[in-house]
Amino acid sequence: MKRVVFSLLILIGLGMALSAQTSIFDRNCVSCHRREGVSLRRTFMNALLIYSGEQNMKAGLKYFLRHPSKETSVMGEEYFRTHRLKAPTTLTDSELDAALDTYWQRYKVIGNLR
Ligand code: HEC
Repeated sequence: MKRVVFSLLILIGLGMALSAQTSIFDRNCVSCHRREGVSLRRTFMNALLIYSGEQNMKAGLKYFLRHPSKETSVMGEEYFRTHRLKAPTTLTDSELDAALDTYWQRYKVIGNLR
């Protein structure tokens, strides 16, 4: 019995350690994009085409996520006929940088394949 309780505690601890590792990107960006049904892959491709290059894209998106506007959005006019603009991010500067780094890391492969 003691052994079972001990194993359970270890499993719970492991689970907590793993969930703490979930990146700010998953917690913030992915969860909202899933809810809203806006593909992060598609936004990545749009952003890559328009901003081109890692530094330019990160800087441009950082500004956009703080100050969303239909005029500077990469989503295109068509999109906003049926959808609304996102709200400005509430992340801190370093959280936003970290999230954009993960975003780049996770999706850049697709850009490289073209
Ligand atoms: C509260 C919900 C929400 C959160 C949080 C959120 N997004 Fe979005 N995002 C949206 C919606 C909705 C759109 C499409 C409408 C728009 O562009 O305003 C969008 C658009 C985008 C775009 C296209 C930009 C453009 O020019 O229109 C990118 C890229 C993007 N999100 C990446 C991210 C990243 C990276 C994060 C995390 C730092 C993030 N989003 C967090 C809802 C969210």
